[in-house]
Amino acid sequence: MSTKPPARLGLPDLGVGVGMRIPHYADLLDGPEPARMDWLEIISENFMLPGGLPRYNLGRALSRYQLVQHGVSLSIGATEALDLEYLRKLKALIGETKTPWVSDHLCWTGAHGVNLHDLLPLPYTEEAVKHVAARARQVQDILGVRLLLENVSSYLTYTSSTMTEWEFLTAIADEADVGLLLDCNNIYVSSFNHGFDPRDFVDGVPHARVAQIHLAGHTNYGKYIIDTHSAPVIDPVWQLYRQAIERCGPVSTLIEWDDDIPPFAELCAEAEKARVIRDEVARDRAA
Ligand SMILES: [Fe+2]
Repeated sequence: MSTKPPARLGLPDLGVGVGMRIPHYADLLDGPEPARMDWLEIISENFMLPGGLPRYNLGRALSRYQLVQHGVSLSIGATEALDLEYLRKLKALIGETKTPWVSDHLCWTGAHGVNLHDLLPLPYTEEAVKHVAARARQVQDILGVRLLLENVSSYLTYTSSTMTEWEFLTAIADEADVGLLLDCNNIYVSSFNHGFDPRDFVDGVPHARVAQIHLAGHTNYGKYIIDTHSAPVIDPVWQLYRQAIERCGPVSTLIEWDDDIPPFAELCAEAEKARVIRDEVARDRAA
């Protein structure tokens, strides 16, 4: 008997896409036909300034593809006030791209006016849940589109934490009524670095709130893993992806590759692997 997948907050399943990166602009934008890619993710901050080459290429991309905005500067976990000027620019870009949602990371990126240029984890406490949820709700109200928060790769934990990372993510998403961007590679990286079972993470999040999935490669240094986005997705992460799709249904999926970027054909082959898994899970679900 078939089972219906969860609702995903009414957000569409866009299929499988890749991050829009400069080395692939010729493949994506210059040919007579669009590349066979369901959608592209852009880094919002790269297109916030008016005019210039980035905005020219943004216009060309918009004429061919569904774009979705992903940010790195929101710093939703910081203790400083939200940057309203940043949010104003983000909202203006949303008006242009018609992105169906906007995502950023469940992290903090600086304090006391210093930007650390890193996506740093939070302590998993009730106090942090209340702090982040209030800010996430405010951001979502200002932007006028659904906000998705993404789990980050982490390299440290806090002795003050009182819950698991997936319990923390769930509590914030439920309290703020925001969506989740589940990064299966980040789950794997953090599980390796901190010694938990990544399958518990995938099982433990609210599946009806997962509206996007990230997949990427990383660098394993033996005793720890760094989230480098510089390699193919490894088999255990593909297994987590299959588990996530089984739980959540067909969710918009994105391959991230940001360093040692391969030829576009190689990136397309990674996207094709995701399509195969989605199709297999859909067949099993319908059986
Ligand atoms: Fe990610």
